[in-house]
Amino acid sequence: MTPANTFKFERVGYRYGRDEWIFRDIDFVVDAGESIVLLGANGSGKSTLLKIMCGLTFASAGRLLAFGQEITEEHLENDSAAKEYHRRVGFLFQNSDAQLFTTSVKDEIAFGPLQMGMKKDEVRARVDDVIEMFGLSNLADRSPYRLSGGEKKKVALASVLVLNPEVIILDEPTNGLDPKTQRWLTELILKLNDQGRTIVVATHNLDLAHAIADRALILSEDHRVVFDGPTRDALSNREQLIDVNLIDEYFHIHEGKHHIHQYRHN
Ligand SMILES: Nc1ncnc2c1ncn2[C@@H]1O[C@H](COP(=O)(O)OP(=O)(O)O)[C@@H](O)[C@H]1O
Ligand SMILES: [Mg+2]
Repeated sequence: MTPANTFKFERVGYRYGRDEWIFRDIDFVVDAGESIVLLGANGSGKSTLLKIMCGLTFASAGRLLAFGQEITEEHLENDSAAKEYHRRVGFLFQNSDAQLFTTSVKDEIAFGPLQMGMKKDEVRARVDDVIEMFGLSNLADRSPYRLSGGEKKKVALASVLVLNPEVIILDEPTNGLDPKTQRWLTELILKLNDQGRTIVVATHNLDLAHAIADRALILSEDHRVVFDGPTRDALSNREQLIDVNLIDEYFHIHEGKHHIHQYRHN
C-alpha cells in the first residue's frame, strides 16, 4: 500500500491580489517522514509557498493536496477541519513577533491546546513537558514580548510542538539566532525527523540545509523551482547557487565540503 503523500503541489499558481503571478505551475511532492529544505534568495517565494502548505493562504491556480485531501479556503472554513489541519501541520513563522500574542510564556504555549479543546489537566501536563524540554522554566511567567530574539524563537517553537504535529514547517528558523541556539535548533530538527516527523524548512543558510535535509528544492529569483534533488548535489553546483543568488564568488568547495570565505584565496 502506498501511503498518501503528505503534500502534493499540482500545477500550483499564486498571485497576491490582482498583481502579477508570483508562481506558475509549481509541481512537487513531499512524502511522510522526509526532511526537505527550500532554498532561495530573499523574495524568491519561500514564505509564500510555506503559507500555502500551512493553509494560511491558498493556490490561485492548480491545487494543493495534503494527506490526500485538497486544501481549499472552503475546506478550512469548516472549524473542525481547520483545527485538525493546524494540529497536524505546525508552522514556525519567519518573524516570532507575528506568532506571539499572550501575556505569559506559559499561556502562549497553552493557547493552541486549549483552542483544540484539550482537557485542562492534559494541557498543563503538555505545557510543563515542553517548558522542561526547552529549558524555559525560568521564563514561564514572563511576557513573551520582553524576551530576546532567541528566547522568542524557542517559545514560538514550543507553542508549535506542544500540539505534537506530524509535519513541522519552519520559515528561516535560524535567522538572528546566536551560534549556540542555531546548533540547538539544528539538533532538535534532526531529532524530530528521526522520530518520524515530516520537516520542511525554508532557508538561505546553506550550513543548515547541509545539516538537516537530504533533499533540497531551489527557487530562483523569478520564483521557479530550478532544482529538486539531493541536497549535496544542490550545494555542490556552484554555478547554480551563484545564479539563484545564494552564494557569491567567494564560495568554495574543498575536498567535497562547501564552506564560505570572506576573502578570495591567493
Ligand atoms: N503581501 C504581499 N503582497 C504582494 N506581494 C508580496 C506579498 N508578500 C510577498 N510578496 C512578493 O512575493 C514574492 C515572494 O515573497 P516571499 O514569499 O516573501 O519570498 P521569500 O520568503 O523567499 O523571501 C516577492 O516578490 C514579494 O515581493
Ligand atoms: Mg520569507
